[in-house]
Amino acid sequence: MSLIHETDYGTPASKSEKRVTLTIDGMSVTVPEGTSIMRAAMEVGNQIPKLCATDTLDAFGSCRLCLVEIEGRGGTPASCTTPVADGIVVKTQTERLKQIRRGVMELYISDHPLDCLTCSANGDCELQDMAGVVGLREVRYGYEGENHTKLGKDESNPYFTYEQSKCIVCNRCVRACEEVQGTFALTISGRGFGSRVSPGMNEPFLSSECVSCGACVQACPTATLNEKSMHQIGTPEHSLVTTCAYCGVGCTFKAEMRGDELVRMVPYKDGKANRGHSCVKGRFAYGYTTHKDRILKPMIRSSIDEPWKEVSYEEAIAYAASEFKRIQEKYGRRAVGGITSSRCTNEETYLVQKLIRGGFGNNNVDTCARVCHSPTGYGLSQTFGTSAGTQDFDSVEESDVILVIGANPTDGHPVFGSRMKKRLRQGAKLIVVDPRRTDSVRSPHIEAAFHLPLKPGTNVAIVTALAHVIVTEGLVNEAFVRERCDWDEFQEWAAFVADERHSPEAVAKYTGVDPALVRGAARLYATGGNGAIYYGLGVTEHSQGSTTVMAIANLAMATGNIGRRGVGVNPLRGQNNVQGSCDMGSFPHELPGYRHISDDATRASFEAMWGVHLDDEPGLRIPNMFDAAVEGTYKGMYVQGEDILQSDPDTKHVSAGLAALECLVVQDLFLNETANYAHVFLPGSTFLEKDGTFTNAERRIQRVRKVMAPKNGYADWEVTQLLANALGFPMNYQHPSEIMDEIAALTPTFKGVSYAKLEEMGSVQWPCNDKAPEGTPIMHIGGFVRGKGKFILTEYVPTDERTGPRFPLLLTTGRILSQYNVGAQTRRTANTAWHPEDVLEIHAHDAENRGIRDGDFVKLESRSGSTSLKAVISDRVSPGVVYTTFHHPVTQANVVTTDYSDWATNCPEYKVTAVQVAPSNGPTQWQEEYEDLSRKSRRIAAE
Ligand code: SF4
Ligand code: SF4
Ligand code: SF4
Ligand code: FES
Repeated sequence: MSLIHETDYGTPASKSEKRVTLTIDGMSVTVPEGTSIMRAAMEVGNQIPKLCATDTLDAFGSCRLCLVEIEGRGGTPASCTTPVADGIVVKTQTERLKQIRRGVMELYISDHPLDCLTCSANGDCELQDMAGVVGLREVRYGYEGENHTKLGKDESNPYFTYEQSKCIVCNRCVRACEEVQGTFALTISGRGFGSRVSPGMNEPFLSSECVSCGACVQACPTATLNEKSMHQIGTPEHSLVTTCAYCGVGCTFKAEMRGDELVRMVPYKDGKANRGHSCVKGRFAYGYTTHKDRILKPMIRSSIDEPWKEVSYEEAIAYAASEFKRIQEKYGRRAVGGITSSRCTNEETYLVQKLIRGGFGNNNVDTCARVCHSPTGYGLSQTFGTSAGTQDFDSVEESDVILVIGANPTDGHPVFGSRMKKRLRQGAKLIVVDPRRTDSVRSPHIEAAFHLPLKPGTNVAIVTALAHVIVTEGLVNEAFVRERCDWDEFQEWAAFVADERHSPEAVAKYTGVDPALVRGAARLYATGGNGAIYYGLGVTEHSQGSTTVMAIANLAMATGNIGRRGVGVNPLRGQNNVQGSCDMGSFPHELPGYRHISDDATRASFEAMWGVHLDDEPGLRIPNMFDAAVEGTYKGMYVQGEDILQSDPDTKHVSAGLAALECLVVQDLFLNETANYAHVFLPGSTFLEKDGTFTNAERRIQRVRKVMAPKNGYADWEVTQLLANALGFPMNYQHPSEIMDEIAALTPTFKGVSYAKLEEMGSVQWPCNDKAPEGTPIMHIGGFVRGKGKFILTEYVPTDERTGPRFPLLLTTGRILSQYNVGAQTRRTANTAWHPEDVLEIHAHDAENRGIRDGDFVKLESRSGSTSLKAVISDRVSPGVVYTTFHHPVTQANVVTTDYSDWATNCPEYKVTAVQVAPSNGPTQWQEEYEDLSRKSRRIAAE
């Protein structure tokens, strides 16, 4: 294995279809119009020296190293900023050019600390390379004059250093922060010789606006901005391309290694989801993979009051299998089940559901998608015929109006957020529907045309009101609807939404949104060109989550915004493989590929392949598993890679369910909160330790590659296989590629997927089959998967969760950029520098009424329970609304959330809880009891 080097073409590719032919150093080159001379030269392998140019950024033309001569033109233009022209003859290596370049390099080097041998970028430094390329042999100016070589180092960022003395002021970092990331955290302060890169107002990186995405580090040609891991470990010597294990954007990285040590994760330019960008989590927050808290040996205990006993895999697996068998003999076949993980690979998820259906003999399998995007699956399959988003991420580059509903891309899906902001800076218009003023609403160079700050729980009313305006003001794309949708159903829907009770004026009494804003937003979406909708858990995690998804689909169909680039309905998936875990048959009623378990033909194909009889009755959903456990009919559970205790709503009910189990098997990296109630703990493996695939929010199937041996001995799929075998349900896969072959053989939408194809294409978006052998970037082109698009009536039904005198405020929850979900990984990284605890955002008006000051401890109480945390006074939330994240177990935010859920899918209503907030002295009794239980659960018996 060697280090993967990606070619730097110096300037971005031109998208022009017109071709231009020129001559460079005697070679004829044909490239798209608008290509720079530098890039054209690179296309034929001629690397013109450069320092300020890189192909992820627009050309800047400051270093003067890339000069060329063009016949018939005077001077020496910079090849990075000069576009090609038909017939020109370019020379890149004349004596005059060589001399100029050496002179430029002399100036740089005379002001550079020449400590190359001890520099962390030795061997990975473009300045060093260019000194060689231009043939620099002496520095006539000496090193004695005024220079910057004694300037200090900023080490405040946990992951990278800023060594000012090495800066050549090429501006690449500043441009990366602006053009790629869109944060505008860096400037060049001072003038001339005094010019320096400066984070914010000359602050340390950590206290500046910097979000630690790493784009500047990536762009820096010297060691000025450099990963601390390069200082600690040295330069990498081999690499493999793999996929981020955090969010559903699915960024591709090169895992750069030295031996079996990960030196750094470098975003891969050829990654189709991220196009070379990253966020702080994927780029830097991988320290959890080697954290001392990882459990590397299997453990068992006969009761949760006992300390854990470390045992061999054989013993742990045999114990788990015998317990599951005992329970099934005593309580019946359906008394056990399991939960698949949206963090694990497709192959692992597939195996867990296979084990449950084939080994347990029932369909009691569910996944954490239940608590996030299950309404997406339901809503989009009802209206369009496919349980997935319609576009690829590249599509946003052609959107004219972007409607973001209940999502906070800059925090939740940061790399997509950056791509979206880039499009907005180019002139696309933005509409945000969110109770909170998220960063998308207003950030440097971004201002939403409309922000509809609705009351939590009123999405259906708002989206139907948008439809009301579109229908009643004649903004429907009738030609599209007549051709592509069921016309009768459309007419019924149009009459429904046109009713006065759905007008912006009528719904304002529940939504709290100024009707003029709703009307303006509807007009913009319907008439502003390509309209794309992106939505998140702020849509799905409601009692009417599925209804809102269908209302969104109606909106897209009515305006013809579906079936081409730049438009569509795009769920922003939470976890890295939530799309995949749904695709792989993790729901109790569906086999892989979303086919109902009651369908005889589908079941028969699985029965033939697996050699077992399958139950035709849908199994239990997660909340029903807890209900059945409390009732005493559900007794054993296998949970892979999911901390249900911390992530599911109504923690007290979940813990009662878990405590009632006779055998709980938890497979995870860490002793998570769910493991407090476990009897068997099976160590999990990280994404760096296994082969497999993840499927991102674009339906893109991407390889995860094993870059190191599993520290716990086995990849997760191997452990599942051991358990299946012990249960008497044989599995004998030698490699995950064989599991994918089985998936492809049984699942029509995956028929064309194989590891060989992924190797060849890099990634592929399902459906991938005979009809679409290279996959399907955009869905529903020319017709909906279900035939005619289906309009569905979306009556607004207020949630049963109501505010009143006891609980007058509405709590809504969300994520922050630096932390991830329940924080199991990110809390075990240096990301805690940014979000050491969950806090409650409260409007000044509500805080003042309660005598709460900024930073005070407050008690947050609902009908379900109470917790305490610190208050932060914020104008991001409206009066009457409070907001918190749920990344830290000590906060236990889900003690407060209720067990109300989506009518169609049981997805919990995390986003609306009526609460009261009052000053408090510290942790609640529940938090203290809980801490006690966690402490007890972490006891491991001495050998
Ligand atoms: S790490 Fe990202 S946000 Fe921070 S300065 Fe660099 S480019 Fe900007
Ligand atoms: S920090 Fe690096 S990228 Fe930024 S101006 Fe200095 S040398 Fe260039
Ligand atoms: S945006 Fe998501 S997938 Fe990309 S690096 Fe960040 S966490 Fe990973
Ligand atoms: S690379 Fe062209 S001017 Fe710097």
